[in-house]
Amino acid sequence: MCLLYLSMTRILLTREYPSIAKLLLTKEGFEVTAWPEQRPMTPDELVANSKKADAILCTITDKITAEFLDQCSHLKVIAQFGVGYDNVDVDAATRRNIRVGNTPGVLTDATADTAFALLLSVARKTLYTHKQILAGNWRSFEPNKRLGIQLKGRTLGILGLGRIGTEMARLCKGAYGMTILYHNRKNNIEAERELGARLVSFDQLLRDSDIVSAHCALTPETRGIFNKDAFSKMKGTAIFINTARGPVHNEEDLYQALVEKQIWGAGLDVTNPEPMSKDSPLLSMENVAVLPHIGSATIEARTAMARLAAENIIGFFKNGALPHPVN
Ligand code: DGY
Repeated sequence: MCLLYLSMTRILLTREYPSIAKLLLTKEGFEVTAWPEQRPMTPDELVANSKKADAILCTITDKITAEFLDQCSHLKVIAQFGVGYDNVDVDAATRRNIRVGNTPGVLTDATADTAFALLLSVARKTLYTHKQILAGNWRSFEPNKRLGIQLKGRTLGILGLGRIGTEMARLCKGAYGMTILYHNRKNNIEAERELGARLVSFDQLLRDSDIVSAHCALTPETRGIFNKDAFSKMKGTAIFINTARGPVHNEEDLYQALVEKQIWGAGLDVTNPEPMSKDSPLLSMENVAVLPHIGSATIEARTAMARLAAENIIGFFKNGALPHPVN
């Protein structure tokens, strides 16, 4: 049981989150301050505001580095709004006895839907052709233009067959009877049983898949794993999808692979860097669909994420334990 009185405990919300977060925290008696601007705080602003807090509810736009933690080592809890927490130096937090929590499980469907939507967008050029209408380029029915590819019976290769990857596999198998390959550190026995998914080497995943979809966490092993070498091993007809983290792919290598037709298309919900520049050449390519990191952006998922993040803070200060701990 924690000794701090909740009414004297100050929580900083680093962005505008779904209102349930503030509501739950306020109801427990915490003193809650929310960053009022639409933009993320600068690193200096984040330090200055966090110095006045006992816990922060933060997200991917907040860089919780060792340097930040050196200046804010008084923090008790870092409650990440998101399942991914690569913006948080968890080891550095652990060394300072700061607890980190995240929001797993509640954005699985939303993110898998986004990967599936990107796949369809790329395969049938829907985002691109929509932009063509806006640009005044729909002049007539054109029998031999804007041709996409059929998805039925293809092979889907998943890097990182966890919750979200499995849901994407389920969608693709259900809709198109796809064969599922995956590459993981360890077997996903349940997915093998349910979906007939087959564990293969990363090279075989690249070689044999018609669609390669990234659902892995960003770690030193996966940073830049989709590079020139990886794209050169993929089929010329393959589609690359990334709804995980932008730095999982090398964006320049991806662009070159598309230009040189080493792969057929790409669908990205995450880019490297974020936000993507509006001048990125990827944005005007016919076989590319890009979304602004909206994988978890359904009302249901974002509300549940806000609830879980708040519950991590409440759990620590009331019971000494986060319901969804990372460290
Ligand atoms: C997640 O939950 O990791 C989403 O990408 C939002 O950061």
